Amino acid sequence: MAIQPVLRLGNPKLREVAEKYPVSEIGDTNFFALLEDLKDTLQHQGGIGLAATQIGVSQRVAIIDIPGGPTRYGDLDTMPLTVFVNPEIEILDPEVAGYWEGCLSVPGLRGYVERPQHIMVRYLDETATPQALELTGFPATVFQHEFDHLDGRLYIDHIIDNSLLSFEEEFEQFIAPGLQAPQE
Ligand code: NI
Repeated sequence: MAIQPVLRLGNPKLREVAEKYPVSEIGDTNFFALLEDLKDTLQHQGGIGLAATQIGVSQRVAIIDIPGGPTRYGDLDTMPLTVFVNPEIEILDPEVAGYWEGCLSVPGLRGYVERPQHIMVRYLDETATPQALELTGFPATVFQHEFDHLDGRLYIDHIIDNSLLSFEEEFEQFIAPGLQAPQE
């Protein structure tokens, strides 16, 4: 186990544009150490996505793991643990939908963000094999949240109505009791 501290809002490293991961180094010891750190930290935090930039590694690697079961995050689409190296994004349909997002780097807050809901993601997996993944709905939002981290952006940058930014306790009290917004 190698749980790493998650950088929080205000740390300038969260605002860096991460470097592409050297393809020739995918699969080496450092690469798998980074993956272990990401997985252990995500599991420890109970989140559904984590970018390397959030643990202070300015390289374009992120993981997403959206567990099944209606009890955790409501009736949302799931995604098995997926490793994205040097991902690229193509918007297939610009029509947006909104979700209440949370971020491990912005603890204690929820914010309503609208994003395109139909995207194509091209990336290398943990064996450096090129992959293409079409995402719709909630997983498309989650991927864009992680992709933003690799470019130094946070979900709060996308909030267009600041009345839709809330502490978790007030979110539960006033906005959507019982709705568990995931942490990414
Ligand atoms: Ni985040």
